[in-house]
Amino acid sequence: MDHAADARQTDLMTITRYVLNEQTKYSESKGDFTILLSHIVLGCKFVCSAVNKAGLAKLIGLAGDTNIQGEEQKKLDVLSNDVFLNALISSGRTAILVSEEGQEAIFVSPPFRGKYCVVFDPLDGSSNIDCGVSIGTIFGIYMLKGSDPKIEDVLQPGKNMLAAGYCMYGSSCMLVLSTGNGVNGFTLDPSLGEFILTHSDIRIPKKGKIYSVNEGNAKNWDVPTSKYVENCKFPKDGSSPKSLRYVGSMVADVHRTLLYGGVFLYPADEKSPNGKLRVLYEVFPMSFLIEQAGGQAFTGKQRALDLVPKKIHERSPIFLGSHDDVEEIKALYAAEESKP
Ligand code: AHG
Ligand code: MN
Ligand code: MN
Repeated sequence: MDHAADARQTDLMTITRYVLNEQTKYSESKGDFTILLSHIVLGCKFVCSAVNKAGLAKLIGLAGDTNIQGEEQKKLDVLSNDVFLNALISSGRTAILVSEEGQEAIFVSPPFRGKYCVVFDPLDGSSNIDCGVSIGTIFGIYMLKGSDPKIEDVLQPGKNMLAAGYCMYGSSCMLVLSTGNGVNGFTLDPSLGEFILTHSDIRIPKKGKIYSVNEGNAKNWDVPTSKYVENCKFPKDGSSPKSLRYVGSMVADVHRTLLYGGVFLYPADEKSPNGKLRVLYEVFPMSFLIEQAGGQAFTGKQRALDLVPKKIHERSPIFLGSHDDVEEIKALYAAEESKP
Protein backbone atom coordinates (compact mmCIF):
# COMPACT_ATOMS: atom_id res chain seq x y z
CA MET A 1 0.00 0.00 0.00
CA ASP A 2 1.35 3.43 -0.88
CA HIS A 3 1.91 5.93 1.90
CA ALA A 4 -0.85 8.33 0.79
CA ALA A 5 -3.48 5.60 0.77
CA ASP A 6 -2.31 4.37 4.15
CA ALA A 7 -2.47 7.92 5.56
CA ARG A 8 -6.04 8.31 4.28
CA GLN A 9 -7.09 5.25 6.25
CA THR A 10 -5.17 5.95 9.46
CA ASP A 11 -4.96 9.73 9.56
CA LEU A 12 -8.64 10.52 10.05
CA MET A 13 -10.10 14.00 9.61
CA THR A 14 -12.61 14.08 12.43
CA ILE A 15 -15.11 16.91 12.60
CA THR A 16 -13.39 18.36 15.68
CA ARG A 17 -10.04 18.33 13.92
CA TYR A 18 -11.60 19.94 10.86
CA VAL A 19 -13.25 22.74 12.84
CA LEU A 20 -10.10 23.32 14.87
CA ASN A 21 -8.10 23.66 11.63
CA GLU A 22 -10.67 26.12 10.28
CA GLN A 23 -10.70 28.21 13.43
CA THR A 24 -6.92 28.48 13.76
CA LYS A 25 -7.06 30.49 10.51
CA TYR A 26 -8.53 33.30 12.64
CA SER A 27 -5.91 34.74 14.97
CA GLU A 28 -8.55 35.99 17.43
CA SER A 29 -10.06 32.51 17.81
CA LYS A 30 -9.85 31.19 21.37
CA GLY A 31 -11.43 27.80 20.71
CA ASP A 32 -14.95 28.78 21.83
CA PHE A 33 -16.56 27.83 18.52
CA THR A 34 -14.80 24.45 18.52
CA ILE A 35 -16.13 23.77 22.02
CA LEU A 36 -19.67 24.81 21.01
CA LEU A 37 -19.55 22.55 17.98
CA SER A 38 -18.25 19.59 19.98
CA HIS A 39 -21.33 19.94 22.21
CA ILE A 40 -23.63 20.02 19.16
CA VAL A 41 -21.84 16.90 17.91
CA LEU A 42 -22.47 15.22 21.26
CA GLY A 43 -26.18 16.05 20.94
CA CYS A 44 -26.27 14.56 17.44
CA LYS A 45 -24.60 11.33 18.60
CA PHE A 46 -27.00 11.05 21.53
CA VAL A 47 -30.08 11.57 19.31
CA CYS A 48 -28.67 9.21 16.66
CA SER A 49 -28.33 6.50 19.27
CA ALA A 50 -31.85 7.18 20.60
CA VAL A 51 -33.33 7.11 17.08
CA ASN A 52 -31.60 3.80 16.34
CA LYS A 53 -32.90 2.28 19.56
CA ALA A 54 -36.37 3.85 19.38
CA GLY A 55 -38.23 0.75 18.20
CA LEU A 56 -36.58 -1.41 20.82
CA ALA A 57 -36.82 1.03 23.67
CA LYS A 58 -40.50 1.66 23.03
CA LEU A 59 -39.71 5.34 22.85
CA ILE A 60 -42.02 5.62 19.88
CA GLY A 61 -45.42 7.06 20.61
CA LEU A 62 -47.04 10.28 21.63
CA ALA A 63 -45.81 12.11 24.67
CA GLY A 64 -49.31 13.50 25.11
CA ASP A 65 -48.15 17.08 24.72
CA THR A 66 -48.45 19.61 21.92
CA ASN A 67 -45.84 22.14 20.86
CA ILE A 68 -46.26 25.85 20.08
CA GLN A 69 -47.45 25.15 16.54
CA GLY A 70 -50.17 22.88 17.91
CA GLU A 71 -48.48 19.77 16.51
CA GLU A 72 -48.38 16.54 18.45
CA GLN A 73 -45.03 15.97 20.11
CA LYS A 74 -43.57 12.51 19.99
CA LYS A 75 -41.35 11.19 22.71
CA LEU A 76 -38.28 11.46 20.55
CA ASP A 77 -38.99 15.17 19.91
CA VAL A 78 -39.08 15.84 23.63
CA LEU A 79 -35.99 13.76 24.28
CA SER A 80 -34.03 15.39 21.43
CA ASN A 81 -34.98 18.84 22.63
CA ASP A 82 -33.77 18.05 26.15
CA VAL A 83 -30.55 16.54 24.80
CA PHE A 84 -29.70 19.63 22.75
CA LEU A 85 -30.70 22.13 25.43
CA ASN A 86 -28.48 20.38 27.96
CA ALA A 87 -25.58 20.00 25.53
CA LEU A 88 -25.79 23.65 24.45
CA ILE A 89 -26.17 25.18 27.91
CA SER A 90 -23.42 23.02 29.42
CA SER A 91 -21.02 24.11 26.66
CA GLY A 92 -20.83 27.45 28.47
CA ARG A 93 -20.67 29.13 25.07
CA THR A 94 -24.31 30.03 24.38
CA ALA A 95 -26.36 33.12 25.20
CA ILE A 96 -29.74 32.55 23.51
CA LEU A 97 -31.33 29.30 22.36
CA VAL A 98 -34.35 29.01 20.09
CA SER A 99 -35.83 25.55 19.61
CA GLU A 100 -38.78 24.53 17.49
CA GLU A 101 -40.14 22.81 20.59
CA GLY A 102 -39.95 25.84 22.89
CA GLN A 103 -42.53 28.60 22.94
CA GLU A 104 -40.05 31.26 24.04
CA ALA A 105 -36.34 31.80 23.44
CA ILE A 106 -34.13 30.66 26.31
CA PHE A 107 -31.69 33.23 27.69
CA VAL A 108 -28.75 31.42 29.27
CA SER A 109 -27.68 32.85 32.62
CA PRO A 110 -24.16 33.30 33.92
CA PRO A 111 -21.94 31.43 34.68
CA PHE A 112 -22.93 29.35 31.64
CA ARG A 113 -23.49 32.33 29.33
CA GLY A 114 -21.30 32.62 26.24
CA LYS A 115 -21.42 34.66 23.03
CA TYR A 116 -23.20 32.35 20.58
CA CYS A 117 -26.92 32.06 19.79
CA VAL A 118 -28.16 28.72 18.49
CA VAL A 119 -31.45 28.20 16.65
CA PHE A 120 -32.43 24.59 16.10
CA ASP A 121 -35.02 22.03 15.15
CA PRO A 122 -34.06 19.14 17.45
CA LEU A 123 -35.94 16.52 15.47
CA ASP A 124 -37.14 17.32 11.98
CA GLY A 125 -39.44 15.02 10.08
CA SER A 126 -41.20 13.67 13.14
CA SER A 127 -44.08 12.27 11.07
CA ASN A 128 -41.53 9.76 9.77
CA ILE A 129 -40.35 8.47 13.18
CA ASP A 130 -42.83 5.63 13.47
CA CYS A 131 -41.93 4.11 10.10
CA GLY A 132 -38.14 4.30 10.38
CA VAL A 133 -37.66 6.82 7.55
CA SER A 134 -34.75 9.30 7.76
CA ILE A 135 -35.17 12.19 10.18
CA GLY A 136 -32.70 14.81 11.37
CA THR A 137 -31.60 17.80 13.44
CA ILE A 138 -31.13 21.27 11.91
CA PHE A 139 -29.14 24.12 13.49
CA GLY A 140 -27.87 27.63 12.83
CA ILE A 141 -25.41 29.72 14.83
CA TYR A 142 -25.29 33.51 15.28
CA MET A 143 -22.91 35.65 17.29
CA LEU A 144 -24.32 38.06 19.90
CA LYS A 145 -24.30 41.62 18.55
CA GLY A 146 -23.54 43.32 21.87
CA SER A 147 -22.63 42.12 25.34
CA ASP A 148 -26.23 42.21 26.59
CA PRO A 149 -28.27 39.38 24.97
CA LYS A 150 -31.50 40.63 23.33
CA ILE A 151 -34.14 38.86 21.25
CA GLU A 152 -32.90 40.87 18.22
CA ASP A 153 -29.74 38.76 18.37
CA VAL A 154 -31.76 35.82 17.04
CA LEU A 155 -33.96 37.92 14.74
CA GLN A 156 -31.08 38.56 12.36
CA PRO A 157 -31.21 37.72 8.65
CA GLY A 158 -29.90 34.28 7.76
CA LYS A 159 -26.93 35.76 5.89
CA ASN A 160 -25.53 36.79 9.31
CA MET A 161 -25.25 33.18 10.46
CA LEU A 162 -21.70 32.14 11.31
CA ALA A 163 -22.45 28.50 10.67
CA ALA A 164 -25.29 26.15 9.86
CA GLY A 165 -25.72 22.43 9.55
CA TYR A 166 -27.87 19.38 9.89
CA CYS A 167 -27.45 15.84 11.07
CA MET A 168 -29.37 13.15 9.24
CA TYR A 169 -30.32 9.98 11.08
CA GLY A 170 -30.64 7.72 8.07
CA SER A 171 -29.04 4.57 6.72
CA SER A 172 -25.90 6.19 8.10
CA CYS A 173 -25.64 9.15 10.44
CA MET A 174 -24.29 12.16 8.59
CA LEU A 175 -23.49 15.65 9.76
CA VAL A 176 -23.32 18.32 7.05
CA LEU A 177 -21.75 21.60 8.11
CA SER A 178 -20.82 25.00 6.75
CA THR A 179 -18.86 27.60 8.67
CA GLY A 180 -19.22 29.99 5.74
CA ASN A 181 -16.40 28.47 3.77
CA GLY A 182 -18.10 25.78 1.65
CA VAL A 183 -19.96 22.70 2.79
CA ASN A 184 -18.51 19.48 4.19
CA GLY A 185 -20.12 16.18 5.13
CA PHE A 186 -19.01 13.94 8.00
CA THR A 187 -20.21 10.38 8.52
CA LEU A 188 -20.42 8.84 11.97
CA ASP A 189 -18.15 5.83 12.35
CA PRO A 190 -20.09 3.97 15.05
CA SER A 191 -17.07 1.91 16.06
CA LEU A 192 -15.05 5.08 16.79
CA GLY A 193 -17.96 7.29 17.84
CA GLU A 194 -16.46 10.00 15.64
CA PHE A 195 -17.75 11.92 12.64
CA ILE A 196 -15.20 11.49 9.83
CA LEU A 197 -14.91 13.77 6.80
CA THR A 198 -16.37 11.73 3.92
CA HIS A 199 -17.79 14.41 1.61
CA SER A 200 -15.41 17.33 1.28
CA ASP A 201 -16.41 20.58 -0.42
CA ILE A 202 -19.90 19.52 -1.51
CA ARG A 203 -21.05 21.44 -4.63
CA ILE A 204 -24.66 21.18 -5.74
CA PRO A 205 -25.06 20.40 -9.48
CA LYS A 206 -25.84 23.58 -11.46
CA LYS A 207 -29.06 22.00 -12.76
CA GLY A 208 -30.86 18.92 -11.52
CA LYS A 209 -33.29 16.25 -12.65
CA ILE A 210 -35.42 16.04 -9.50
CA TYR A 211 -38.18 18.18 -7.98
CA SER A 212 -39.36 17.65 -4.43
CA VAL A 213 -42.69 18.94 -3.14
CA ASN A 214 -45.84 17.79 -1.37
CA GLU A 215 -48.08 17.67 -4.45
CA GLY A 216 -51.09 16.94 -2.27
CA ASN A 217 -51.27 20.70 -1.72
CA ALA A 218 -51.41 21.50 -5.47
CA LYS A 219 -55.07 22.53 -5.35
CA ASN A 220 -54.16 25.60 -3.30
CA TRP A 221 -50.85 26.63 -4.95
CA ASP A 222 -50.19 30.05 -6.47
CA VAL A 223 -49.68 30.46 -10.24
CA PRO A 224 -45.84 30.42 -10.38
CA THR A 225 -45.62 27.25 -8.26
CA SER A 226 -48.28 25.50 -10.37
CA LYS A 227 -46.55 26.56 -13.59
CA TYR A 228 -43.15 25.42 -12.34
CA VAL A 229 -44.34 21.95 -11.34
CA GLU A 230 -46.21 21.65 -14.65
CA ASN A 231 -42.94 22.50 -16.46
CA CYS A 232 -41.14 19.81 -14.44
CA LYS A 233 -43.61 17.22 -15.73
CA PHE A 234 -44.21 18.57 -19.24
CA PRO A 235 -41.08 20.54 -20.20
CA LYS A 236 -41.63 22.91 -23.10
CA ASP A 237 -37.99 23.04 -24.17
CA GLY A 238 -37.78 19.42 -25.33
CA SER A 239 -35.82 18.28 -22.25
CA SER A 240 -36.79 15.17 -20.26
CA PRO A 241 -39.32 15.51 -17.45
CA LYS A 242 -37.90 15.71 -13.95
CA SER A 243 -38.35 12.90 -11.42
CA LEU A 244 -40.38 13.50 -8.27
CA ARG A 245 -38.88 12.55 -4.91
CA TYR A 246 -40.47 13.56 -1.60
CA VAL A 247 -39.55 12.00 1.72
CA GLY A 248 -41.42 14.49 3.93
CA SER A 249 -38.38 15.05 6.17
CA MET A 250 -36.78 18.33 5.17
CA VAL A 251 -33.34 17.09 6.20
CA ALA A 252 -33.57 14.07 3.91
CA ASP A 253 -35.10 16.01 1.01
CA VAL A 254 -32.51 18.79 1.24
CA HIS A 255 -29.65 16.30 1.67
CA ARG A 256 -30.62 14.55 -1.56
CA THR A 257 -31.03 17.92 -3.29
CA LEU A 258 -27.53 18.97 -2.16
CA LEU A 259 -25.92 15.79 -3.47
CA TYR A 260 -27.98 15.06 -6.61
CA GLY A 261 -29.23 18.55 -7.52
CA GLY A 262 -32.73 19.72 -8.38
CA VAL A 263 -35.17 21.68 -6.24
CA PHE A 264 -36.95 21.31 -2.95
CA LEU A 265 -39.98 23.51 -2.49
CA TYR A 266 -42.42 24.18 0.31
CA PRO A 267 -44.48 26.96 -1.27
CA ALA A 268 -47.20 29.18 0.09
CA ASP A 269 -50.74 28.09 -0.57
CA GLU A 270 -54.18 29.55 -0.01
CA LYS A 271 -54.46 27.85 3.35
CA SER A 272 -50.92 28.69 4.52
CA PRO A 273 -49.87 32.00 2.94
CA ASN A 274 -46.45 31.72 4.62
CA GLY A 275 -45.91 28.08 3.81
CA LYS A 276 -45.11 25.63 6.58
CA LEU A 277 -41.40 25.74 7.25
CA ARG A 278 -39.94 27.89 9.99
CA VAL A 279 -37.55 30.67 9.02
CA LEU A 280 -35.03 30.53 11.84
CA TYR A 281 -34.32 26.85 12.23
CA GLU A 282 -35.47 25.29 8.93
CA VAL A 283 -35.37 27.84 6.09
CA PHE A 284 -32.22 29.77 7.14
CA PRO A 285 -29.81 26.92 7.94
CA MET A 286 -30.80 24.98 4.81
CA SER A 287 -30.61 28.10 2.62
CA PHE A 288 -27.17 28.89 4.07
CA LEU A 289 -25.91 25.40 3.21
CA ILE A 290 -27.44 25.46 -0.30
CA GLU A 291 -25.87 28.86 -1.08
CA GLN A 292 -22.52 27.75 0.33
CA ALA A 293 -22.69 24.75 -2.02
CA GLY A 294 -23.30 27.02 -5.03
CA GLY A 295 -27.11 26.83 -5.20
CA GLN A 296 -29.86 29.37 -4.55
CA ALA A 297 -32.66 29.79 -1.99
CA PHE A 298 -35.66 31.99 -2.80
CA THR A 299 -38.88 32.77 -0.89
CA GLY A 300 -41.02 33.69 -3.89
CA LYS A 301 -40.22 37.34 -3.20
CA GLN A 302 -36.55 37.59 -2.27
CA ARG A 303 -33.31 35.79 -1.45
CA ALA A 304 -34.21 33.69 1.59
CA LEU A 305 -31.11 34.69 3.58
CA ASP A 306 -32.08 38.40 3.32
CA LEU A 307 -35.32 37.87 5.27
CA VAL A 308 -35.41 39.67 8.61
CA PRO A 309 -37.60 37.59 10.93
CA LYS A 310 -39.89 39.46 13.31
CA LYS A 311 -40.84 36.45 15.42
CA ILE A 312 -38.84 33.39 16.41
CA HIS A 313 -41.36 30.88 15.03
CA GLU A 314 -42.11 32.80 11.81
CA ARG A 315 -42.69 30.77 8.62
CA SER A 316 -41.79 31.41 5.00
CA PRO A 317 -42.33 29.75 1.65
CA ILE A 318 -39.05 28.32 0.31
CA PHE A 319 -37.66 27.20 -3.05
CA LEU A 320 -34.09 25.95 -2.81
CA GLY A 321 -31.64 23.91 -4.82
CA SER A 322 -29.63 23.96 -8.04
CA HIS A 323 -28.80 27.42 -9.37
CA ASP A 324 -30.50 27.06 -12.77
CA ASP A 325 -33.65 25.40 -11.44
CA VAL A 326 -34.24 28.13 -8.83
CA GLU A 327 -33.52 30.72 -11.54
CA GLU A 328 -36.47 29.28 -13.49
CA ILE A 329 -38.73 29.68 -10.44
CA LYS A 330 -37.53 33.28 -9.93
CA ALA A 331 -38.39 34.06 -13.56
CA LEU A 332 -41.92 32.68 -13.13
CA TYR A 333 -42.49 34.88 -10.05
CA ALA A 334 -41.06 37.92 -11.88
CA ALA A 335 -43.41 37.27 -14.83
CA GLU A 336 -46.42 36.96 -12.51
CA GLU A 337 -45.52 40.20 -10.73
CA SER A 338 -45.15 42.16 -13.96
CA LYS A 339 -48.70 41.24 -15.04
CA PRO A 340 -51.00 44.26 -15.02
P1 AHG B 1 -41.05 18.87 11.97
O1 AHG B 1 -41.08 17.39 12.03
O2 AHG B 1 -39.83 19.44 12.62
O3 AHG B 1 -42.32 19.52 12.46
O4 AHG B 1 -40.89 19.33 10.44
C1 AHG B 1 -41.61 18.68 9.45
C2 AHG B 1 -41.46 19.46 8.19
C3 AHG B 1 -40.29 19.10 7.31
O5 AHG B 1 -39.43 18.15 7.79
C4 AHG B 1 -40.89 18.61 6.03
O6 AHG B 1 -40.23 19.14 4.95
C5 AHG B 1 -42.31 19.06 6.09
O7 AHG B 1 -42.62 19.23 7.43
C6 AHG B 1 -43.26 18.10 5.47
O8 AHG B 1 -44.52 18.65 5.50
P2 AHG B 1 -45.78 17.96 4.77
O9 AHG B 1 -46.11 16.75 5.55
O10 AHG B 1 -46.84 19.04 4.83
O11 AHG B 1 -45.37 17.67 3.36
MN1 MN C 1 -38.82 20.57 11.19
MN1 MN D 1 -39.06 19.29 14.65
